Amino acid sequence: MVPAREAGARAAGWAGVTTLFDPLQLRDVEIPNRIWVSPMCQYSCDPVGAPGLVHDWHLVHLGSFALGGAGLVLTEAAAVSPEGRISPEDAGIWTDEQARAWARVVAFLHAQGSRAGVQLAHAGRKASTYRPFEAAGTGSVPAAEGGWETVGPSAEAFGRYAEPRALDAEGLRRVVEDFAAAARRADEAGFDVVEVHAAHGYLLHQFLSPLSNRREDSHGGDLAGRARLLLEVVDAVRAVWPQGKPVVVRVSATDWTDGGLQLDEVVTVSGWLREHGVDLVDVSTGGNSPAASIPVAPGYQVPHAEAVRRGAGVATGAVGMITDPAQAAQVVAQGQADVVLLARELLRDPRWPQRAARELGGQVARPPQYARA
Ligand SMILES: Cc1cc2nc3c(=O)[nH]c(=O)nc-3n(C[C@H](O)[C@H](O)[C@H](O)COP(=O)(O)O)c2cc1C
Repeated sequence: MVPAREAGARAAGWAGVTTLFDPLQLRDVEIPNRIWVSPMCQYSCDPVGAPGLVHDWHLVHLGSFALGGAGLVLTEAAAVSPEGRISPEDAGIWTDEQARAWARVVAFLHAQGSRAGVQLAHAGRKASTYRPFEAAGTGSVPAAEGGWETVGPSAEAFGRYAEPRALDAEGLRRVVEDFAAAARRADEAGFDVVEVHAAHGYLLHQFLSPLSNRREDSHGGDLAGRARLLLEVVDAVRAVWPQGKPVVVRVSATDWTDGGLQLDEVVTVSGWLREHGVDLVDVSTGGNSPAASIPVAPGYQVPHAEAVRRGAGVATGAVGMITDPAQAAQVVAQGQADVVLLARELLRDPRWPQRAARELGGQVARPPQYARA
């Protein structure tokens, strides 16, 4: 066990211990510290006037994390196509106009010394749902209220959501093209990192998991078949995304359900991802089974990040109930993950990276305007 303060601030005698405040080099991109903002949907775009278009809310929300000193600010899930949105209010990156709106956010993040990453997403059978804080309803949004037909690997619904249409070969080709076009736009918008969302029961996870993928063609069946769409997406993204910029993939390391996706399978897939040019695997869990029982507790997904890191030989991010600076520092110091991602704790305290630096004796960027604080 590395004592907390040393884990944070590499004191004398602890040379060689990685701290939260050390930069991480991924390809040509240096990320100034190991504290990353985990993607967080804001469900705040105007679904009628300007679908998918981010605006002042997103600038201020994401900008606040850069002011707090986060090394990498990852955006919320940005849909690669209109039908890939979780809710009608989701952000998107399926048009050039949307990319230009993101460019304004990216420029602000860069000006504060943070790096900017976009999460590229397709919700599949979990698309077209009411946003969580919507008074109008829960579950699937009907067409009369601006909902749409969803797609998935098989015509099998998630819980009480609407039944999706199983994607045919043409539909699969379009999904791959949409991810690639979104990555090209993300590069034009100035993002440093793309994260492909293959977790939380969304489309690429739906293909990976035997709970939702009942296909009998080349995109189903054994692990190689279930992982095929994800690898096709990664290859297509890598082909248009600059070689000097990193690609990250978020996975769910387990479905927490008998008969679902298992950790050892995800370790295998993560090795394939590394071979296909993925630089870091962001390891979450769950989201594809309404019946799953998840043992939520501080750091409960850290062992999954560690298993992927050791088993697949790829850099990882740990996420989930990481809230305490000393706890976060231990994850990195002990080599369980290369970075930590925080979501809800950063909503509570967007200056958490600066607080962690104060508590542990490290350093992160702080705007000169706040120097007197
Ligand atoms: C408001 C909110 C929105 C979220 N939206 C996304 C998302 O767009 N993409 C994603 O991969 N995870 C999303 N998540 C999950 C978080 O990124 C994170 O994995 C999860 O909250 C666990 O981390 P935490 O304990 O630090 O909050 C969201 C979480 C919250 C609280």
